Amino acid sequence: MGRFENYIKDVMYWNEELQKFLQSDGVDRNDEIWSKLDGMTDMVEGLKQPDNLNETELYNLQSKVEELHREMEDYYQKRQSIGSIYVNHPYVKAGEHSLPPLPYSYDALEPAISAEIMELHHTKHHQSYVDGLNKAEKNLVDARKSGDFSLVKHWSRELAFHGSGHYLHTIFWNNMTPNGGGKPSGKLLQEIERYFGSFEAFKKHFSEAAKAVEGVGWAILVWAPRSRHLEILQSERHMLLTQWDTIPLLVLDVWEHAYYLQYKNNRGDYVNNWWGVVNWNDVESRFKQAFHLKWKPF
Ligand SMILES: [Fe+2]
Repeated sequence: MGRFENYIKDVMYWNEELQKFLQSDGVDRNDEIWSKLDGMTDMVEGLKQPDNLNETELYNLQSKVEELHREMEDYYQKRQSIGSIYVNHPYVKAGEHSLPPLPYSYDALEPAISAEIMELHHTKHHQSYVDGLNKAEKNLVDARKSGDFSLVKHWSRELAFHGSGHYLHTIFWNNMTPNGGGKPSGKLLQEIERYFGSFEAFKKHFSEAAKAVEGVGWAILVWAPRSRHLEILQSERHMLLTQWDTIPLLVLDVWEHAYYLQYKNNRGDYVNNWWGVVNWNDVESRFKQAFHLKWKPF
């Protein structure tokens, strides 16, 4: 075995991991950090006898690695402080959601939407969802501490209603811009045309869905990772006990068809016994993939 062979292997592995990391976080290929990383790749690949480095080559490589390590740390610290990347961003703790600022002024969407509506919608309605969500989360923290779940139905409802309200409005504000309109481009346009037939057909379907929502609610364009196509859904009010903008990891079917033949009306025993057949490997794998998605926390 050559000298320093393991060290070179480690460096190459680290280099690959950094590349994947930058890719998964969507760092622009023109960004300076990429050229620094490419520089190190070139250096490693340019080693004439990677299995048998001399002292000078090793020293040069080590200082390059240290330099890149520092650059990488500085870079992410900087990116985090301006809020454009959330690799190690503190997560939103229970009861600590906040109202996101609008990405434009209240009158910016006029004449389509008046300043008065925007201000009221944002500062009153959205704020009340944030407050309601925080309250529900805090009450559920208390329930977990005390073991008293007598109000779990109520707080789950509140969690869904206010959680969906907060998450959907956060998407909604950013879905709009004073210089908006027109058509999407690239992959999204391709997918729209592939699934809905044309952009016009999609627009018609989406508009009709929005107009036909019963009572109050939303029209929502979603991506289904399972079928790998887009879809248009309606949501009445905005929840029916779900929180939009979340990804299911572990689900338990408690429809009667799932247990009645065996357990009759004893759903409790079914739920207790179900824990013995949970496939945590699968849940972990779903979590791992879902974890790659990072929206700005609010
Ligand atoms: Fe609203």
